[in-house]
Amino acid sequence: MAKITASVYTSHVPAIGAAMDLGKTEEAYWQPLFAGYEYSKQWMKDNKPDVVLLVFNDHATAFSLDMIPTFAIGTADQYQPADEGWGPRPVPVVQGHSALASHIAHSVIQQDFDLTIVNKMDVDHGLTVPLSLMCGSLDPKTDQWPCPVIPFAVNVVQYPVPSGKRCFDLGQAIRKAVESYDEDLNVHIWGTGGMSHQLQGPRAGLINRDWDNAFLDKLIADPIAAAHIPHIDYVRDAGSEGIELVMWLIARGAMSDISDGKQTGIPPTLKHRFYHVPASNTAVGHAILENS
Ligand code: DHB
Ligand code: FE
Repeated sequence: MAKITASVYTSHVPAIGAAMDLGKTEEAYWQPLFAGYEYSKQWMKDNKPDVVLLVFNDHATAFSLDMIPTFAIGTADQYQPADEGWGPRPVPVVQGHSALASHIAHSVIQQDFDLTIVNKMDVDHGLTVPLSLMCGSLDPKTDQWPCPVIPFAVNVVQYPVPSGKRCFDLGQAIRKAVESYDEDLNVHIWGTGGMSHQLQGPRAGLINRDWDNAFLDKLIADPIAAAHIPHIDYVRDAGSEGIELVMWLIARGAMSDISDGKQTGIPPTLKHRFYHVPASNTAVGHAILENS
């Protein structure tokens, strides 16, 4: 049977990808940020998953405002890095896992979450920057990402967006889906985006260290409380784009201490926690949890 063994949480700031692609990671501005991912890159090598289910948000790249799925699962064999205005990032093509993705779609829809099924999709910084942070710089001509990736897109761009509670419940359904897949696969689930940031309007540049760190505390140790944070708190305290953090609750809800909406099992082990301000306009948060 397939099993979720770990969850990873990380921001996806596009400037991080540009810094890596342009060889700027040792610059004084960037060095402290990348230092926080040294542990993670080694952890990724030491705990190489068979598949990553990567929960991310598209930024009107694959889905324009013409069509906005709330939850969409990628069932393709491959995903091309998107052109976000400066050409596609020079990173390897993302290989999918269509068999597991199709199984998850089937199981999760049968558990009453109505997913959109996506057979063709380009992936923007929301997906490629977390991969780059966890896997390091790779040459698109000679290298591959260490494993197949199932992109799982969440609408956090155009209201109405799903609640944290809905995301947390979805994570539990995803775990059941993975655990009902016959093949022995080691699966990691990643929740990406955040932390506090606002890119527009009079409050552009908003960052809230205290709120972010309280969110990390809750996410790790009191995930039920984290799941009940209302939208207005994210937007008021973590900025309009801070709402991206609801995606982290999908990954947290998929951990093995959570069943039937309660935290009844052994809590996961915190392997790494990192927080850095700022990267571009955003507070960067990162954590790695392993199932006990
Ligand atoms: C920035 C952050 C984001 O999450 C994003 O999608 C785009 C830009 C930023 O901080 O610049
Ligand atoms: Fe974003």
